[in-house]
Amino acid sequence: MTRETSASLLFVCHGCGAVVDPARAFPFACPNARAGDDIDHVLVAPREAPDPGAGAEDDPFLRYRRWLSPYRLARAAGLSDDAWHDVVGELDEALKAVDDRGFRRTPFVRQPALAAALGLAGPLWAKDETRNISGSHKARHLMGLMLYLRVLEISRLPLGADLRARRLAIASCGNAALAAAVIARAADWPIDVFIPPDAERSVVRRLRDLGADVETCIRRPGETGDPCVHAARRAVDRDAIPFGVQGPDNGLAAEGARTLAFEMAETLAAEGAELDVLYVQVGGGALASALAQGFAIAAGVGLVGRVPRLIAVQVAGCAPLARAWKRLDGVALEKAVRNRSRFMQPWDSVPASLAHGILDDETYDWWEVVKAMRETGGEAVVADEVAIERALEYVRAHTDVRASATGAAGLAGALAAHGAHGAAAAVVLSGVERGAEG
Ligand SMILES: Cc1ncc(COP(=O)(O)O)c(C=O)c1O
Repeated sequence: MTRETSASLLFVCHGCGAVVDPARAFPFACPNARAGDDIDHVLVAPREAPDPGAGAEDDPFLRYRRWLSPYRLARAAGLSDDAWHDVVGELDEALKAVDDRGFRRTPFVRQPALAAALGLAGPLWAKDETRNISGSHKARHLMGLMLYLRVLEISRLPLGADLRARRLAIASCGNAALAAAVIARAADWPIDVFIPPDAERSVVRRLRDLGADVETCIRRPGETGDPCVHAARRAVDRDAIPFGVQGPDNGLAAEGARTLAFEMAETLAAEGAELDVLYVQVGGGALASALAQGFAIAAGVGLVGRVPRLIAVQVAGCAPLARAWKRLDGVALEKAVRNRSRFMQPWDSVPASLAHGILDDETYDWWEVVKAMRETGGEAVVADEVAIERALEYVRAHTDVRASATGAAGLAGALAAHGAHGAAAAVVLSGVERGAEG
């Protein structure tokens, strides 16, 4: 390792301050995390954004490589810039074979018809992630993880020895599972997927076609928390690699999806535009966390003049983040991070909504999201089912984006805002509609 084993590589736990060098220890769960300590342990990827910034490539994992920790690890471990291009390029070729496409920047455009239908006085931008690998933004999270694993293997760091003997494990009922299985297949890495009994049949079929081992997890009466998450964590205890999208289980989870914000920020800069507000549908919270981190980095390097207000949108049938947000009123965030259960608890009733994909019992990445809402003057809003249905109808009627109810749910927050004084707003439309909700 060179002297670059510096702040630009280290992961830091936002709960206890533990520091992890990803060349020497896996930045997955925080090494200090202990059951019942009530600290919100999440290893956060470095927020360094060295110059020069974005490259000219269209693949976000090449374009923004200098802002990604696996790239910096690769360089610190002696791999060349060309070697990184090879790692990304090989996966890209394999992705094209598995899913007919590689990673490319996705469209981020103004949607005047949608804005007009909603009665918004200001511009409304939509990022179309339905066109991404496997039909959602989830692939960005998981590509970040896979690139880290590949760098460990290729650079022959001791941590990478026998890595292939360990299976990947993820808990998910839909988009994240599909993205994980596609990327695992492209990397030829075995994967176990833990799903609920009501997972969409077409999704389960595709997971099996991709070679994933699928295990159905039943919710037992009186059990709190997601049984699939519990099962995936047990697999990790037995040596599987956490290959999911929840920060507490893997500190790399959020980082790859920062690229979404980088892309949005670059488009805004190119068009001389700014955003006032960003509406994000929140389930486990990794998407909102990644967007907040990405916009903060983009503002730090001057790509955008300001970080938009973050509005987290949850559904009435499962709103643990919105509940935590209320409980946090007047409480210092430093206190909250050390008293997790006073704020974030699993949802008490069985979660239900048309926006099936954001029914996470807990908002695992809640603390980064509430921090961003505090810093940007944002808030958490709860959309009822009528608003979720209307948001989906508006997207169908006024855009050419075929998002699912889950992926259009952020727009339900904009519906409630009633124009908000001509603010420039954005949503992320994700999770391509697969017939029935998945
Ligand atoms: C289409 C879509 N949008 C948004 C989300 C929310 O992401 P997160 O769970 O990271 O909050 C999900 C999660 O499954 C999703 O599938």
